[in-house]
Amino acid sequence: MILVTGGAGYIGSHTNKALHSAGYDTLVLDNLSKGYENFVKWGEFVNCDFGSYDDLKNLFNSYDIEGVIHFAAFSSVGESVKQPAKYLKNNFKNTLNLLKVMKKFEVNKFIFSSTAAVYGNPEFTPIPENHPLKPINPYGQSKLNVERALEKSDLNYVSLRYFNAAGCDFDLEIGEAHVPETHLIPLILDAAIGKRDSISIFGDDYNTQDGTCIRDYVHVNDLADAHIKAYEYLQDDNSSNIFNLGNGNGFSVKEVINTCKKITGIDFNVEISPRRDGDPDILIADFNKIKSSLNWNPKYDLDTIVESAWNWHKKINNDVCI
Ligand SMILES: NC(=O)c1ccc[n+]([C@@H]2O[C@H](COP(=O)([O-])OP(=O)(O)OC[C@H]3O[C@@H](n4cnc5c(N)ncnc54)[C@H](O)[C@@H]3O)[C@@H](O)[C@H]2O)c1
Repeated sequence: MILVTGGAGYIGSHTNKALHSAGYDTLVLDNLSKGYENFVKWGEFVNCDFGSYDDLKNLFNSYDIEGVIHFAAFSSVGESVKQPAKYLKNNFKNTLNLLKVMKKFEVNKFIFSSTAAVYGNPEFTPIPENHPLKPINPYGQSKLNVERALEKSDLNYVSLRYFNAAGCDFDLEIGEAHVPETHLIPLILDAAIGKRDSISIFGDDYNTQDGTCIRDYVHVNDLADAHIKAYEYLQDDNSSNIFNLGNGNGFSVKEVINTCKKITGIDFNVEISPRRDGDPDILIADFNKIKSSLNWNPKYDLDTIVESAWNWHKKINNDVCI
């Protein structure tokens, strides 16, 4: 079976569902610090912290684990700036702990959730994997530290550097529910549904066509599909690799807001606020490497991303709890 750490969270739960549809057995490990037990609707669930060597050892003793897909981490850039030690511990040191247990049990297939934040402020865009790696916040640094540790290990691994994950399960069984929410599309949809008075655009004087930052949004089901392809790539004895995961298309904040207005049919207030530190003008993935190596192609466009997110948003705002 495959161990899915962080499988009660957003991307992990969608990947867990996709793994089951593809016929894999999974064991989902999550300490529910950010995730939801009722997002684990497939496979077995264990409430466990991957920073505990003894708990992991017991787990690897009790289950026949053949590979690990590692989503568990903290992922708020702003929080990482305020509490760098928390990110170094959970994202980097705890991952070293997981790698140590994997080595002890001779489990050597590992898929790692990395991030475009390892590139920092890009020197050019679209960004290929061999772009210089200069993270500008502790979150990006913690992920780069793991990538460096993987390079030195004898594991067979694939690091997937996601750009902006977005959208939700089309069956609405699971979705996106970060607390606090920091991602653009759910924040905009909060304004559409009336949970916030307006949506703030942080800066409209960037070097882009409409002055707002441009990002690359990739549907979470496309991400899930890439994890399965990456796992199968390792099963076929291919060597370790690193791939970008993005759509290859950039959309400005204003374009995303307009798409949300179009899909929801709701006109809501938009405010311009001052720039935030460390937001690059444009982040777009060059995903040619994963396209040619794993035959992965993103299927879903921005309209579909927003529509799926909106359907989920309406559902969770009608339910008392998720
Ligand atoms: N969401 C994005 O756009 C994005 C972009 C780039 C990279 N990533 C990476 O993808 C991964 C998943 O992101 P997400 O958006 O699904 O986040 P998420 O917070 O929804 O999921 C992470 C899960 O890990 C669990 N977790 C955290 N620390 C743990 C620990 N010590 N032990 C056990 N469980 C623990 C949390 O409870 C949560 O369920 C993360 O590694 C993140 O850094 C996300």
